[in-house]
Order: sequence, then C-alpha cells, then structure tokens
Amino acid sequence: MATQLDEIISLCKRRGFIFQSSEIYGGLSATYDYGPLGVELKRNVRDSWWRNMVYLNDNVVGIDAAILMHPTVWKASGHVDAFNDPLIDDKQSKNRYRADQLIEGYIAKLRKKGKDDKADAVYERLVEALNSEEMPAALYAIIQEEEIRSPDSGAFDWTEVRQFNLMFSTYVGPASDTENKVYLRPETAQGIFVNFHNVRETSRLQIPFGIAQIGKAFRNEIVARQFIFRTREFEQMEMQYFVKPGMQMEAYDKWKQLRWDWHVSNGVNPDKLRWHEHEKLAHYADAAVDVTYEFPFGWQEIEGIHSRTDFDLKSHQEYSGKKQEYFDQQENERYIPYVVETSVGLDRTILMLLFDAYRKEDVDGDSRVVLGFKPSIAPFKAAILPLVKKDGMPELARKIEADLKRHFNTFYDEKGAIGRRYRRMDEIGTPYCITIDGESLDDGSVTVRDRDSMNQERINKDRLSGYLLDRISQG
Ligand code: GAP
Repeated sequence: MATQLDEIISLCKRRGFIFQSSEIYGGLSATYDYGPLGVELKRNVRDSWWRNMVYLNDNVVGIDAAILMHPTVWKASGHVDAFNDPLIDDKQSKNRYRADQLIEGYIAKLRKKGKDDKADAVYERLVEALNSEEMPAALYAIIQEEEIRSPDSGAFDWTEVRQFNLMFSTYVGPASDTENKVYLRPETAQGIFVNFHNVRETSRLQIPFGIAQIGKAFRNEIVARQFIFRTREFEQMEMQYFVKPGMQMEAYDKWKQLRWDWHVSNGVNPDKLRWHEHEKLAHYADAAVDVTYEFPFGWQEIEGIHSRTDFDLKSHQEYSGKKQEYFDQQENERYIPYVVETSVGLDRTILMLLFDAYRKEDVDGDSRVVLGFKPSIAPFKAAILPLVKKDGMPELARKIEADLKRHFNTFYDEKGAIGRRYRRMDEIGTPYCITIDGESLDDGSVTVRDRDSMNQERINKDRLSGYLLDRISQG
C-alpha cells in the first residue's frame, strides 16, 4: 500500500511541484528540481522568512555570500577536521551504513521485542561511544559485541568503522592539485561570520544585531532519504545574531519563540511541532534546541537554534590574523561578540508544509485531495474559471484575470467540467476559485469558491481584488 510519503511524491511529480533531478538519465540520487508550482511555493516560503527576519526586525540585515569560500574558512570552522559521519560497509552487499544509525536500528528492534533493559544498556554505550575520542573504534566494538547484522543482506561481515567527511570538494582554476582545492559550503553560516566586520561597518549597526542569509548548501550525505528531507544539495535560511557576552540566553529565548511563531504563522499545526533540547552539546555551544515536526516517519528536526558562544569569530580571528572584536561605545569595552544562530532548511520546511497541508476527503460520495496551504504560501492565490467556453464568458474572465494578476499569482482554466476544475485546484492548494457564469455577464457578479469550506459567495467583479487581498492577508 502506498504510504503518505509515496502519495506526496506522486502528487509533487504529477502536478509539477518537485521532480527527480536529471530524471531522463535515470536520476541523480538525493537531488531534486522544483517545477512550476514548487518554485512558487518555495519562493513564498523564502519571502515569508525574509520578511519575518529582515524587514520586521530593525536590527537584522541580509547578505548573499558566495558558495565557494577560501578553504581556510573550513579549517577555522572545524568542518575539515570534524564534519564527519562514522561509516561502515557490509562486505557482502557492498552497502554503506552510518554506524550510529545501525546501532539505533538495533536498539529499536530490541524495544519492539520488549527487551527494554538490554536496549537501555546498548543506548548508554552508544552515547558513550559518540562522546569518546575513539568514536569509530567504540562504535565498531558495539556492532561486533552485539553481533549486529546488516539490514539488507543479513550478513555479519563488516569493514572497520571509518570517518567520512561530508564536504564536497572541487578545484579552482585548471590545475587539480591540493593548493587549489575548495569546498562547496556545507552551511551558509560561515559566509555570515567572515562578513561580520564588513556588514557592521557598512550598516553602522550596534550590538545586538543580526545578519540573515538564504542560500544553497551541499553535504555528501551517505544516507540520504525521505524525498527532500535529506538531500545532498539544499537551501538553508540562517541568521546569526551577535550579542554582548552574557546576553546570549536572553537572545536565545527570544529567537526560540520567534522561530516557533514563524512556523505556526505559515499554517503549520502546532500540535505537530515539538522542541527537542540537545542533551549532547557541540563543544562550542552553550545551548541548542531543535524545532521538530511529526512526520509519518517520526519526529524530525526542521530548524536548529544554537547559542554558539564566540567560537566562530574567535576561530576566524585566529586563522585569519584579523581582529574580530567589537568596540562597545556604551560600555567602553572591546569584546568578541557571542552568537545565537537560527538555522532552518527551506526544502525540509517545504516537505513539512506539504505533509501538514495534505488531506483526502469524501465529498458527497466523491473523494478529493486537498493541499490546505495557507493562502499566503499557496502557489496560486486564485483560479479564474469561465463556466463555459462561449457566450463572452472567457473574454470577461480574461479581463478579471488581468486585474487580479497585478496583485498576485493566478491560474486561468476554461477546459472541462467545472467540478473537475475545482478538484484540480484543490489538489494544488489554490484557496479561491472564481467562476464567471451567465449572471456575471448580466450584472458583473462572479462566484468565489472557498477551497476548504467549498462555500460559494457572489461578489461584484469590481470588489473582487480587494475582497481576495483581504482574505489572503488574513488567511
Ligand atoms: N549552521 C548550522 C547548521 O547548518 P544543521 O543542523 O546542520 O545546522 C540546519 O542544519 C538545518 O538545515 C537543519 O535543521 C535542516 O533543516 C537543514 N538541513 C541540514 N542538512 C540537510 C540535508 N542534507 N538536506 C536537507 N536539509 C538539511
């Protein structure tokens, strides 16, 4: 039976939201292309984030840094040495696994069998192993001692556990030698850190202030799965908020709340959102929490809010030899600011919004699929539908469409039975369908059908744009 994820993947392909990358060549795994509807949805979510973070906060400004950066950036950030996954290969099937996830799968199986004591003990060892200096060897020891078998071949024939760096590398210029090696950025945040002084000086901002950025990031994920949940090329929306040391917890609490509110403002059901506090903090962090969403495949991270101390700026100061201090005029002191980061994946947010909006309903013995997007993020805000393709209805409909298009994205459709046209719009999340019928030609009124209630209201065409704009801004 098709899972809800299968249904969403199929809808995304059928209606032009998301396609497998390079599909005609058999596809490239864990990379996706956004089609005509997907690109509108993504743009609306991106714009919503930008408005919320940059336009609504006087002390937050935006940048757009390059994807390729000086390679020392990634030494300073710790990514060259520590952005690794512990991997193990099944020698029989040649499939590769993340060793920690293999052990997690084994723990889940123990719990299913009711062996909770044993599961707790292995979990404790796993946590210890992940914190250990000898992490690969410690994970390998658990796999050996517990005789954990390969999920695909069932074999117990493993290689050693090895650390695998997740950064994609390439070369600048014609020579492929190590001197010219650069990386595709694995996060957008470092583009913000290295521009801290440029932005502060040119914007004349005083601490506290934030720098926001939206852009592509790349990770050579080994276990990429669940459609656009974990991909090798994805978009991040990140903001670094620079504060006086000691003020980070206040900023952390403030941004935690604001970020939660943003997800809810996009229509996400708050009952499906939950905080996940990090028990194990990265060495540079003094607090970290994730916003998680309940997907059918479990509670998963959508966004991270991290209090990163002065780790990044201090490290860039050390590696670049350029001072990263801030002179606080009010306090008459110099310091390296602390940073609170908010970091959300755009593609992952899109997947959450698709799951959250997707529903199947029975309507008078018929069934319909609805993407109940909030109007502000829906790809089309209204569909313009002449009831029949004659008697001057298409001409009037085109006039109405031309007027509405000045305000928002619309879709025109004059083919097929009106009921089927409504269903097609429901399936892509169009909140309003405007039908032009015989009465419209007589008195200028049209019907406005609401996607969710399916109620229809008659409105004069001259009032239509105001009426819809009002609803879209409220909705
Ligand atoms: N600068 C901090 C940072 O990059 P992260 O937790 O590694 O933190 C932040 O990533 C967000 O980026 C995640 O919460 C997730 O939404 C998104 N993300 C990370 N890896 C991803 C991947 N492989 N595919 C899609 N989204 C990803």
